[in-house]
Amino acid sequence: MDQFKITGGTPLHGELPVSGSKNSALPALAACLLTEEPVTLRRIPQVKDIATMEQLLSHTGAQLTDDDGTVTVNARSLDNPEAPYDVVKTMRASSLVLGPLVARTGRARVSMPGGCAIGARPINLHVSALEQLGATIEQSHGYVEAQAPAGLQGATIHFDRITVTGTEDVLMAAVLARGETTIRNAAREPEVKDLAELLIAMGAKIEGAGTSIIHVQGVERLHGAEHTIIPDRIEAGTFLLAGAVSQGDILITHCNPEHVAALIVKMQKAGADIEEVSNCAIRVRFSGRPRAVDVTTEEYPGFATDLQAQYMAWMTVAQGISFITETIFENRFMHTQELARMGANIRIEGRQAIVAGEDHLTGAQVIASDLRASASLVLAALIAQGETTIDRVYHMDRGYERIEQKLAAVGAKIERIAA
Ligand code: EPZ
Repeated sequence: MDQFKITGGTPLHGELPVSGSKNSALPALAACLLTEEPVTLRRIPQVKDIATMEQLLSHTGAQLTDDDGTVTVNARSLDNPEAPYDVVKTMRASSLVLGPLVARTGRARVSMPGGCAIGARPINLHVSALEQLGATIEQSHGYVEAQAPAGLQGATIHFDRITVTGTEDVLMAAVLARGETTIRNAAREPEVKDLAELLIAMGAKIEGAGTSIIHVQGVERLHGAEHTIIPDRIEAGTFLLAGAVSQGDILITHCNPEHVAALIVKMQKAGADIEEVSNCAIRVRFSGRPRAVDVTTEEYPGFATDLQAQYMAWMTVAQGISFITETIFENRFMHTQELARMGANIRIEGRQAIVAGEDHLTGAQVIASDLRASASLVLAALIAQGETTIDRVYHMDRGYERIEQKLAAVGAKIERIAA
C-alpha cells in the first residue's frame, strides 16, 4: 500500500487549482443511465471513486470514453441493470444507480453497501422513497432487488432525515415517473443542484433543487446533453486549511467561495486572513497559532461534515480548547487517535471531540482510516516538526486528484512511497 512521507514546517506559497467535484460527478455519471443518447460531462476528477463508478456503468452495459476528465457515456443498451457486491463494497455511492436503473429499465439489483469506517450508512431512506414511487423492493442475500415493470408513478416524498445521495437517487427516478413528484426535506447541497441542472439540460422538468422542497414533473424520456461539473468544495476547503496550517499564503483557484462560506467564517474567527478574490478564487494567509473556535457539523449550508477532520487538524495547535461536534455520522472521529500519536490532545465524549490546543505537533507514523481522515493527517503532517509517514493513502486517492503533486507545487515536502 502506498504511503506519503511528509516533512512539516514549510509555509505553502502559490496557487492551488481545485478539481471537479467527486460528489457531483458520481450522481452525474449515474444520471447518464437515464437516456439512450450520449451525455458528455466535463471536469470529471481522475480519482478512484470515479473509476469505480465508470466500471459500474460499463457493467450495466453502458459504453464510456474518458478523455482526461471529459467523459462521454452512451447508455443505449443496458442489458445488465445490476451493481454487484464486489463493486459496491469499495464505494457505497454505487447505490446512486438504483434510481436511474429502475426508472430506465424497470428493474435494478444493487448490492447493499454495508458500513464503512465512518458509520453504518444504510440506504433505507433511498429504498422507502423509491417504494413511494411505485417500485416493489425486496432485500435478500445482501442485495436490493427493485421492480417497476409498469414504470414509476409520481408521489410526495418526505425524507425522515436529510440524505444527499437519497435525494439524488429519488430525483433521478422521479424525472421519468408519470406525473408530479414533490421531495420534502430534500438535501440542499450544491451537488444536488448541480445534478438537477444536468437533468434539466437532458430535458427533465425540475424546480426547487438546492432548497428543501423539490418539484419534479415527469417526462416520457430524456435526451443527451453536455455539462461541466461544479468545483469540489471539500478539496477547496482542504486547501484553505492547508494554507492556514502551513502558515503560508495560498491562492485557491477554479473554486466557488460560496460553497465553503461556513468554513471561511470559522477560519476568520480563528484568525485567518481570507479574501474572496473573485467568484472563483480565494486567498488565504495566516501565521502563528489559531484561536480555538467551536464547530458543529450540519447539512449544507452548515459546516460540512466532510471538512470536520481537516478543521480538527488545525485546532490541535490552537490557543485554547475547541469543541467539535459531529452530527451527521456516528463514527467520524477515527482520525483523532492518529492525531494523538502526533501529540494532539483530544478527548471524545459521544458526538463531541474536545480539542485542547498544543503549541506544536511532532511527526510520526500514522494510518489513514477513511477519505477525509487521510486529508486531516496530511494537514497535521504539514504542521508537525519532523517527518510523518501516512500509511494506506489509497483512502486519499479515492477523492483527491494528484494531491501530492498539487501540494508539492506550492512548496510542501511530500512524496509518495509506492508499496
Ligand atoms: C454524501 O454521502 C457524501 N457522499 C458524503 O461524502 C457526505 O459526507 C455526506 O453526503 C453528508 O454530507 C457523496 O455524495 C457520494 P447522507 P451520503 O445520506 O449521501 C443517514 C466523502 O467524504 N442515512 O447525506 O451517503 C446516514 O447514515 C463522502 O466524499 C440513513 O440513515 O450521506 C448519515 O448518518 C463521505 N439512511 C446521514 O443519514 C439512508 O438511507 C446523512 O447521510 C441514507 C442516509
